Amino acid sequence: MEMQHHLFATRFIIFLIITFVHVPSSAFANDDERYVNCGNLFDCGDIKGVGYPFSGSNRPDYCGYPGLKLECSDQDPEITIQKLTYKVLGIDNQSRNLSVARKDYAENICPTLLLNTTWIPNLLNYTSDDRNITIYYGCLAGAPSFANSFQFPCTINTTAMTGYFTAGSTSNLISYLASCKDNVEVPVRQSALEKILSTPTETQLLGGLKEGFDFVWSADDSLCETCNSSGGQCGYSQTTAAFSCYCKDGPRESSCQQSPSMSSCLLLLFSAGVTLEVNRKTA
Ligand SMILES: *[C@@H]1O[C@H](CO)[C@@H](O)[C@H](O)[C@H]1NC(C)=O
Ligand SMILES: *[C@@H]1O[C@H](CO)[C@@H](O)[C@H](O)[C@H]1NC(C)=O
Ligand SMILES: *[C@@H]1O[C@H](CO)[C@@H](O)[C@H](O)[C@H]1NC(C)=O
Ligand SMILES: *[C@@H]1O[C@H](CO)[C@@H](O)[C@H](O)[C@H]1NC(C)=O
Ligand SMILES: *[C@@H]1O[C@H](CO)[C@@H](O)[C@H](O)[C@H]1NC(C)=O
Ligand SMILES: *[C@@H]1O[C@H](CO)[C@@H](O)[C@H](O)[C@H]1NC(C)=O
Ligand SMILES: *[C@@H]1O[C@H](CO)[C@@H](O)[C@H](O)[C@H]1NC(C)=O
Repeated sequence: MEMQHHLFATRFIIFLIITFVHVPSSAFANDDERYVNCGNLFDCGDIKGVGYPFSGSNRPDYCGYPGLKLECSDQDPEITIQKLTYKVLGIDNQSRNLSVARKDYAENICPTLLLNTTWIPNLLNYTSDDRNITIYYGCLAGAPSFANSFQFPCTINTTAMTGYFTAGSTSNLISYLASCKDNVEVPVRQSALEKILSTPTETQLLGGLKEGFDFVWSADDSLCETCNSSGGQCGYSQTTAAFSCYCKDGPRESSCQQSPSMSSCLLLLFSAGVTLEVNRKTA
C-alpha cells in the first residue's frame, strides 16, 4: 500500500513535469486549424504576403470575405468577380486598394464574351481615380470621325464587325452609337484616360486597360485590428456571414482576450484530473 502510494506520487510529479515542459508544443498541436491556416500569407508572383480579407491558395475560404478569393495561375494572381477574371496588379493594405486589369482585354480589343465590368456591392467599390470608358461593338461601318474617337475592325466568333471607341463626349454621336449592337464599360485610371484622349488608338486603349484600375475594399478592418492585437487571426464566418476572429482555442466575434488565464487554468486542472484517474485505474 505504501509502495503503491509512493509510485503514484512519483508518477504524478513526472506527469506534472512532462505537462509543463510540453505545454508549448502540445498547445500548438491542438490549436484550432482555422487559427493556424489563417496565419498563412498568400504569395504569388510579384504579389507577396497577402492576408485578410483575401483567401486562396494556402488560405482557405474562411480566411477571407466571400468574393475576395485569389487564384494563382502562371505566376499571376487572379480574382474572378461574377464571370470576369482580372489579373491582380497590386494590393495595398493601407489604402485598401486592389488594383486589377481585365484579362479578357489583355491582348485583344475584341473578346469573345462581351461583358461589363462588375464589382461587389458593399465590398468592392470604384475609387475616385477610376474613369469609365465605353467600347462599342457591331456598329455601322463608316463611323463619323470625331476627335478622341476611332473605329476598329473586329472579328468575334467568325463574325466581322465594326467596333467604335470614344473617350470624349458622345452627344454628337447618339444616333450613330444607337446603331451599335453592344457596348462594354471598362474603367481606366485618370492618367491612362488622358493618354488615350491625346492619342486615341487601339494600342493606347489596350495599354490603358493593361495598366488597370483600382477597387477599394470595405471589410471589417477595425475588428481585424482588435482581433490581431489580441493574438487572433482574422477571417470570415460563412455561417454567421460576418467577421470572425480565430483564436488558438476557436473562433470569437472579435477578440481572443476573454479571461484566457482562467480557461487555460481550468483546462490544466481538468486534464490533470483525467490523468490522475487514468493513473489510478492502470496502477
Ligand atoms: C494586411 O492586413 C491584414 C490585417 O488587416 C493582415 O492580416 C495581413 O497580413 C496584411 N498584409 C500585408 C501584406 O501586410
Ligand atoms: C492603388 O495601387 C496602385 C498600385 O498597386 C497605385 O498605382 C494606385 O495609385 C493606388 N490607388 C490608390 C487610390 O491608392
Ligand atoms: C460568341 O460565342 C459564344 C459561345 O457561343 C457566346 O457565348 C458569345 O456570346 C458570342 N459572342 C458574341 C459577341 O456574340
Ligand atoms: C453594359 O452596360 C451598359 C450601360 O448600363 C448597357 O447599355 C450595355 O448593354 C451593357 N453591356 C453588356 C454587354 O451587358
Ligand atoms: C462608392 O464610391 C462612390 C464614389 O467613388 C461613392 O459615391 C459611394 O458612396 C461608394 N459606395 C460605397 C458603398 O462605399
Ligand atoms: C462606371 O459605371 C458604373 C456602372 O455603370 C457606375 O456604377 C460607376 O459609378 C461608374 N464609374 C465612374 C468612375 O463613373
Ligand atoms: C498582426 O499581428 C502580427 C503579429 O502577431 C503582426 O506581425 C502584424 O503586423 C499584425 N498585422 C496588423 C495588420 O496589425
